[in-house]
Amino acid sequence: MEMKLIDRIEELKRGRNAVILVHNYQPGEIQDIADYVGDSLELSRLAAATDAAVVVFCGVHFMAETAFILSPEKIVILPDLKAGCPLADTITVVALKEKRREHPDAKVVCYVNSSAAVKAESDVCCTSANAVRIVESLDGEKVIFVPDRNLGAYVSSRVDKEVILWDGTCPIHDENVSLEQVTKLKREHPEARFIAHPECRLEILRLADEVCGTSGMVRYARESVAGEIIVGTEAGIVYRLKKENPGKTFYPIETAVCPDMKLITLEKIARSMETLEPRVVVPEDVRLGAEEAVKRMVELV
Ligand code: 13P
Repeated sequence: MEMKLIDRIEELKRGRNAVILVHNYQPGEIQDIADYVGDSLELSRLAAATDAAVVVFCGVHFMAETAFILSPEKIVILPDLKAGCPLADTITVVALKEKRREHPDAKVVCYVNSSAAVKAESDVCCTSANAVRIVESLDGEKVIFVPDRNLGAYVSSRVDKEVILWDGTCPIHDENVSLEQVTKLKREHPEARFIAHPECRLEILRLADEVCGTSGMVRYARESVAGEIIVGTEAGIVYRLKKENPGKTFYPIETAVCPDMKLITLEKIARSMETLEPRVVVPEDVRLGAEEAVKRMVELV
């Protein structure tokens, strides 16, 4: 059954001139059919660079939106439109405008886990991989960092600027990666290194040997001499880490599972490639504003 579906997806890929982009958190069987597996921004840039007419984005809504922002001439498909991001949903344009009014002298830096409309209201975008460098490189001493409070607090601990935080979090990183779990895994595997995504709380990040985004974790796993690694992020990435590093042992945080990421299935991918729906589109005025914030990020780092 699964083989038939995979053959069908391959056939549709050729027929539609499509590329399948898969985020590092996706289930293993979806990573296996990918043209590229990567982090949120990496994939959007690949979407813009490819000659394919159709981009099948296996991730969550803001990622597919970012792909569309950078390549509006392409058809961008998200196989399940309900695959959202609770962190991105913690902020609205109206609330951000209000915050700006409170701090008219501050620059607004928005994490890529946000809607296109919020990006369009921001001065510059950032990812977990470049947030510190982006904030550091801005003129001015004051920054409003939205929407992730934990990433903002981490940035604030690393830069010499006033960082005004937004009270948003990713529930998976903020609640499901707990101090108890991490200390238990560290006790059970005393030789293991610990890597953590900066969406985790500062108390967790203080225990980490390396704080990085998902592409940084892929690199760390490859380059580190460590034979055992505890992985402080969404557990789906462990499939890729194991596949690329068969000689090493990875310990996931078992409760760190993003239900939105898991909404994407092989069946939905095949169906969406047949119908070319559901598509992710952004109104042109919003897209242009969001594109500016994303492009400024690329120029700054
Ligand atoms: P990366 O940009 O590191 O892939 O992270 C994406 C994400 O949504 C983390 O929760």
